[in-house]
Amino acid sequence: MIKVICVCGARPNFMKIAPIIRAFKESGKFETLLVHTGQHYDKKMSHLFFDELNIPKPDINLEVGSASHAVQTAEIMKRFEPVILEHRPDYVLVVGDVNSTIGCGLVAVKLGVKLIHAEAGLRSFDRTMPEEINRVLTDSISELLFVTEQSGVDNLKKEGVNSDKVHLVGNVMIDTLLANKEKADKSDILEQLGLEPKEYAAITLHRPSNVDDPEKFEQIIAAFEVIEKEMKLVFPIHPRTRKNAEGTELGRRMEAMKNMLLIEPLRYLDFLCLTSNAGLVMTDSGGIQEETTILGVPCMTLRENTERPVTITEGTNRLVHITTEDILKNYRDIRNGEVKGTIPHLWDGRAAERIAEVIEKAEIRN
Ligand code: UD1
Repeated sequence: MIKVICVCGARPNFMKIAPIIRAFKESGKFETLLVHTGQHYDKKMSHLFFDELNIPKPDINLEVGSASHAVQTAEIMKRFEPVILEHRPDYVLVVGDVNSTIGCGLVAVKLGVKLIHAEAGLRSFDRTMPEEINRVLTDSISELLFVTEQSGVDNLKKEGVNSDKVHLVGNVMIDTLLANKEKADKSDILEQLGLEPKEYAAITLHRPSNVDDPEKFEQIIAAFEVIEKEMKLVFPIHPRTRKNAEGTELGRRMEAMKNMLLIEPLRYLDFLCLTSNAGLVMTDSGGIQEETTILGVPCMTLRENTERPVTITEGTNRLVHITTEDILKNYRDIRNGEVKGTIPHLWDGRAAERIAEVIEKAEIRN
């Protein structure tokens, strides 16, 4: 048996780890242990995803919680080390680009355990983004790198990563989307919120570069104040964003918008139903750019760059500068035109199976 410790920690990790754990189980050749770092801990940011996505209960929860980057990452490392020492896995598998990804990855390689990174190679080339640092560092210490799109393969080549380690397998987040689409279609979230398909825009915002900077945040809110006159806005608000807005003038302006529904973070199936039926999505998330590409829903990414360029070259995504003017210009373009996209190579729901196959073959070679 191939013994793998799989790590998850923050909300976008859960939909990535779910199909991988399933594929390992179906292969019959893996013994897996699931570790949740506890980076995200609210019911709405964590537990609900395990039930809906049929992820087994984590074997171990490190319960690190929120803190500064240094403290959070250090706590993850301190608490993960004894887990490896006790269980001595063949591999540690990490997903995505959050602090749990690099924290656990670093602990693994320091103890001589091979690291696997799913969603490797993505680069925004913006080193002020905490996730970019996590990506570059995790990839540089990984033994097997599973990539979602060709740009990732090209980036790793340029960084000198041995091509034997790099495998273009598709996108595990899309595995989860395709596996759950039918169930999500049955969600009653639109009725609950009084929405008609295509007649609203769904919003998510949580990047520090947008919501920790009051000037940028204000530019975005000012654009929403114009758009809500024409289209309902639904905004499941991330805890970071809520904290920043609470008790401020911007928070009051958000609450004053008659056509803006400010709601709690949604569970996976409800959120997928909400985005599938939206006329438009405005986001600064990474994964949502990919999900809207598969769903064929127009997406405005409120960021200066993306580490997922295929969502623009092939999908329905576009980058929008953080100014009221640019947000409104792009909004009008989309409303007046037609947005069409195609499905990126290998985004077919089978990425996790491919990951399991590659690891099995690598083990035979060793
Ligand atoms: C983290 C990831 C980011 C990812 C995002 C998805 C890093 C560096 N960032 O950012 O890449 O896109 O998750 O959500 O790993 N909080 C709660 N409840 C929770 C979790 C957080 O209230 O369950 C609050 C805390 O006040 C915390 C803040 O939200 O300080 C931010 O949480 P944190 O985990 O530090 O970063 P995110 O912004 O969520």
